[in-house]
Amino acid sequence: MDWVDQTWQKIEKKLSITSKRTDNNLLVYTTENNRFVNKRGIFWWTNGFWPGILWLMYSQTKDESYKKIANNLEVILDEALSNLEHLHHDVGFMWLLSSVANYKLTGNPQSKKRALTAANILAARFNIAGNFIRAWNEDRFGWAIIDCMMNIPLLYWATEQTQDPRFKHIAQGHANRTLETFIRPDGSVNHINVFGPETGEFVESLGGQGYGLGSSWTRGQAWAIYGFILSYIYTKEQKYLDAAKSVSHYFIAALASKDDFVPDCDFRAPKEPIYKDTTAGVIAACGMIEISKNVPEFEKDLYLNSAMKILKQTEQRYADWSEQEDSIVQAGTESYNNGHNIPIIYGDYFFIEAISKLRGNDILFW
Ligand code: GLY
Repeated sequence: MDWVDQTWQKIEKKLSITSKRTDNNLLVYTTENNRFVNKRGIFWWTNGFWPGILWLMYSQTKDESYKKIANNLEVILDEALSNLEHLHHDVGFMWLLSSVANYKLTGNPQSKKRALTAANILAARFNIAGNFIRAWNEDRFGWAIIDCMMNIPLLYWATEQTQDPRFKHIAQGHANRTLETFIRPDGSVNHINVFGPETGEFVESLGGQGYGLGSSWTRGQAWAIYGFILSYIYTKEQKYLDAAKSVSHYFIAALASKDDFVPDCDFRAPKEPIYKDTTAGVIAACGMIEISKNVPEFEKDLYLNSAMKILKQTEQRYADWSEQEDSIVQAGTESYNNGHNIPIIYGDYFFIEAISKLRGNDILFW
């Protein structure tokens, strides 16, 4: 049996245990004392990832118990969906992996309704003067972030469902502005850009979750890789594929200087302290696998082999397959200044998504 199948067997075994002993109402974020916990409340941007893992497991195993828990969690998330003032740009992360996943796998009409509601909330955050979807709330009216490239698939999906092109226009407006202002000529990307909310003009870049201004926050690079290839998949616009490739080239070159091919939290930070961020690697690997499916034959290996190398090294060095610990992928980092060396649910999500892709699962929840 090859590494992919062996790893999938380990995933199935671990999830068959952890999904049963985890409270059915828990929207998982990390672990404490080896057990899944939330800690961040109902509006937290990562609340779709545990449902997403359960839907991935259901799609691969057809085990109804995963579906039952995921359905229950989606109803729990309704509390967030009906409290607009606390919602944010990350409604894509939240409802793509819960409701869109459910709808794609089961056709549940309630799930479609929820996801279209979330798409309308996301679309309403678009600033027409600046062609960007604003990030976060309070008075940060002109802020946009690279992460949001992962939210806009909700808008492409909404156009597919409704035939109303408004959603797709907003997604492309945001993708184009991101392409022009976030991607640097060397293939690295900014995390936060600020635009004048009235004029739409570019004002400045900010350091965000990486080491600082001009640095290279690895999860941000990964959001760009996966986000742009998803925009390409929906639109077939060559410039999005080129952007995904160019950020990948930068990412792969930066990893080549590491012994383990697993990223630190920032590619441009002092040598010490070292903060690993396995989550950045597995997100980028998912994006690279999708790139490999969308380039001519003789280009594929660069992306697929790099993804395989990241995933194998992550598994060999940072996966916990023991029954004692709930999470699989260790050594995630929230940001350069906070939350180091912890398991974070999106590390597990993207690792499982990547392995399921390598087994031939072509369903994209995004
Ligand atoms: N989207 C927030 C993060 O990647 O931490």
